[in-house]
Amino acid sequence: MTTWIVLRAAGIGAYLMLWASVTWGLIATTSLFGKRIAKQTATTVHQFLSTVGLVLLGVHLGGLLLDTFMPFRPIDLLVPLHGRFKPVSVAFGIAAMYAMAVVVSTSWIRKRLGTTWWRRIHLLAVPAFILALVHGVFTGTDSVRPWMWWSYVATGAVVLFLVLVRGLTSGYRPPRAAPPPHARPRPTTRAAAGTTASGKAPTAHPAPASRVPARAAAADDPPPAVAARGRARPEDN
Ligand code: HEM
Repeated sequence: MTTWIVLRAAGIGAYLMLWASVTWGLIATTSLFGKRIAKQTATTVHQFLSTVGLVLLGVHLGGLLLDTFMPFRPIDLLVPLHGRFKPVSVAFGIAAMYAMAVVVSTSWIRKRLGTTWWRRIHLLAVPAFILALVHGVFTGTDSVRPWMWWSYVATGAVVLFLVLVRGLTSGYRPPRAAPPPHARPRPTTRAAAGTTASGKAPTAHPAPASRVPARAAAADDPPPAVAARGRARPEDN
């Protein structure tokens, strides 16, 4: 019976860590929040939350194998709909586990995959969270308790909100404020280092920013105050 209690607690812990990791990842990379969090801090916290979540998931699954109250075999943990205990809602947990495995393992080979593909695959973390949410609600003994029920509602609502914000602001790159006409163009960091994006040496007289043809202001452009606050994504630099 103790194992059953521990594995349930670990399941709740794994779920909360998955929520925290997804939430943190969305906040740290959404343009609207200005990406105020330093990239190194964002990555460290994100990795810490995911690692604790994976350890707790290991305890959750290990507990199921050890427990005699509702025996699970290794194949029941790996193959959806194989076990006898609430097979459909447990299948959601198994699908969440596989989705998390893909998200984590592709992060280990991020450099080989390339940023574009890694980022696309990494978005699987959101469906993984939703699968875990459905699994917890319909499998858990504690779902009927108000504190657990409201925890599912609150965590689900936060992720839904952040996904909506992310979706509505995707592609939003606030334009930098135009330099005053008399100001000389300042060299970019890359140019200062003596290279360009193509690896070639920069031209002796880069075109001043004011000579770049300006786009007519669109109706949905942000006000200048918002634009001035915006910063480029770290990975765009
Ligand atoms: C990302 C993966 C997973 C997460 C985040 C997760 C999370 C949870 C949560 C939050 C609960 C509810 C605990 C409670 O209400 O007391 C739960 C229950 C349960 N989970 Fe998972 N789970 C995951 C994967 C799995 C897998 C792969 C299996 C087995 C194949 C599994 C089997 C169970 C079972 C049998 C219960 C019922 C325990 C009870 O009666 O409360 N889970 N899980």
